[in-house]
Amino acid sequence: MVAAPPTEDRPELALEGKRIVLGVTGGIAAYKSIEVCRRLIDAGAHVTPILTKAALNMVGATTFAALASEPPKTSLFRDQDPIPHTTLGQAADLIVVCPATARVISDYRVGRSADLLSATLIATEAPVIVCPAMHTEMWNHPAVQDNIAVLARRGTIVVGPESGRLAGGDRGEGRLASPESIVEAVLRSLGNQDLAGLKVVVTAGGTREAIDPVRFIGNRSSGKQGHALATEAWRRGANVTLITTVDRSIPSGIDRIEVTSAAEMQAEVQLHAEGADIIVMAAAVADFRPVSVATKKIKKADGTPQIELEPTEDILAGLGKSKRAGQILVGFAAETNDLIENARSKLLRKGADFLVGNDVSAPGVGFAHDTNAVTILGDDGSTMEVTLRGKDEIARAVFDVVGQKLQSLTQSETG
Ligand code: CTP
Repeated sequence: MVAAPPTEDRPELALEGKRIVLGVTGGIAAYKSIEVCRRLIDAGAHVTPILTKAALNMVGATTFAALASEPPKTSLFRDQDPIPHTTLGQAADLIVVCPATARVISDYRVGRSADLLSATLIATEAPVIVCPAMHTEMWNHPAVQDNIAVLARRGTIVVGPESGRLAGGDRGEGRLASPESIVEAVLRSLGNQDLAGLKVVVTAGGTREAIDPVRFIGNRSSGKQGHALATEAWRRGANVTLITTVDRSIPSGIDRIEVTSAAEMQAEVQLHAEGADIIVMAAAVADFRPVSVATKKIKKADGTPQIELEPTEDILAGLGKSKRAGQILVGFAAETNDLIENARSKLLRKGADFLVGNDVSAPGVGFAHDTNAVTILGDDGSTMEVTLRGKDEIARAVFDVVGQKLQSLTQSETG
């Protein structure tokens, strides 16, 4: 399976050109590795599966033959290549072992080449991700914990396990991490690490301003763009704090803080802004809130209520005033008309480095859509248009621009 070359309409996929060996061992969770395989292929990777003998008791080689980039390898000896482990190990950009049983973890720790997978693991210099899955008793066993600790110290990336339902109806820690978090770990491990070690704060979603215990003033923001921004920053190696009003999945490594109102969001932003290198205000923050919130539900019988409103604090403008040297501030502007002029004036008014403007009246753009089209305005007068595409790709374009600015700031500091 070969991905079509990127064009302007088809931007480069996140894992395009990356060779990944997907090691599957004989845990019950092996069926979930099929989903991981499909997601890696969808992201553009070249995936070579290695199935252990025990894995073949759990999942079929034919399934992987149909989904992966090449038929699965199952033996050190029944291959046309006399040395498949070194060929695979040397060519790999990354090896993911999913699920990783106690046996493969132990073999890898001691460097024992018991089969094609364990031999490939010690014949590679590529990063390795292991995703343990086993019963809680096994996972908690000091031998397994010791093996995992040694692997982690050597630089192996350990994803999961999670707590939840296990084979045989038991519950506890030991369940394979979700396919989503495994693929996120792959993306982080193979991605551009230009934000490594930086602290990034992202806000997302629309705030809700209470009228009474059951009603609020809100807006149509879905939080999709903000969550995509937080995910992209995390993939690039940043330590990310996401302050959000919506319950939407994100990589487990992101520090997620849930808020509801503009005041709560402001308090959390203030708390986290000081040490932040980059702050992205993607949230649709309410501009007004009721002056007072009724403690009991307002009843129809009491007549039409007159709700007096007061302005909320402008969080971005506040950040612009207290911005420290080297910190990058990114704002968003959802507009329905005169996009460039409105966004440019917001950029100046709020003291941001970049303002990402979108025309929410255009088809497929803005609130609730999976796609967006934006114009990124810089405080140096620059304008960059990003045509309609997935919100994850918009996030990539935003951090490309931010990354370039950071690089030029670092160069001018050292130059
Ligand atoms: N913003 C903020 N605090 C507010 C309102 C907005 O931090 N109380 C931020 C948003 O997160 C966004 C930027 O300011 O990054 C622009 O938001 P927008 O609603 O487009 O601008 P407003 O200043 O509210 O102007 P208007 O609604 O009149 O267009």
